[in-house]
Amino acid sequence: MNLLKFSLLLSVSGWVVATDSTSSSSSNHVWIAPKATDLRSPCPGLNTLANHGYLPRSGRSISIPMILEAAIDGFNIGSDAIIQAAKFGLLSGDAPTTMDLDALKLTQPN
Ligand code: HEM
Repeated sequence: MNLLKFSLLLSVSGWVVATDSTSSSSSNHVWIAPKATDLRSPCPGLNTLANHGYLPRSGRSISIPMILEAAIDGFNIGSDAIIQAAKFGLLSGDAPTTMDLDALKLTQPN
């Protein structure tokens, strides 16, 4: 009987901790529309990660490790799937280790 109560207590406290950590982490990642000064790209994946704060909401100075961490945290997409795209992204700007989202535009609208 005591063992049953103890197990019950463990399950409930585990649920509370799990619920609490989920709600606190999602509140850091609410969707916020980009401000006029924020930069966005032609890529809906990267834009979503920035709009939810997994990448800098400014869309500036984004490094490859930041993209890989954001992809796993936000989409559960592993680095092997996107590391090549992330590396190519560096070629879009002049900074050696970071990129701005708007630099990923391949063409300018007419
Ligand atoms: C995080 C995972 C990613 C997801 C889910 C994702 C998703 C997508 C999708 C669905 C498109 C096609 C949009 C369309 O044609 O309407 C796209 C386009 C694009 N993505 Fe991503 N992407 C991801 C990562 C990346 C990375 C790491 C880069 C480079 C740093 C990148 C750069 C681009 C670019 C430049 C385009 C536009 C290509 C074009 O002009 O046709 N994406 N992405």
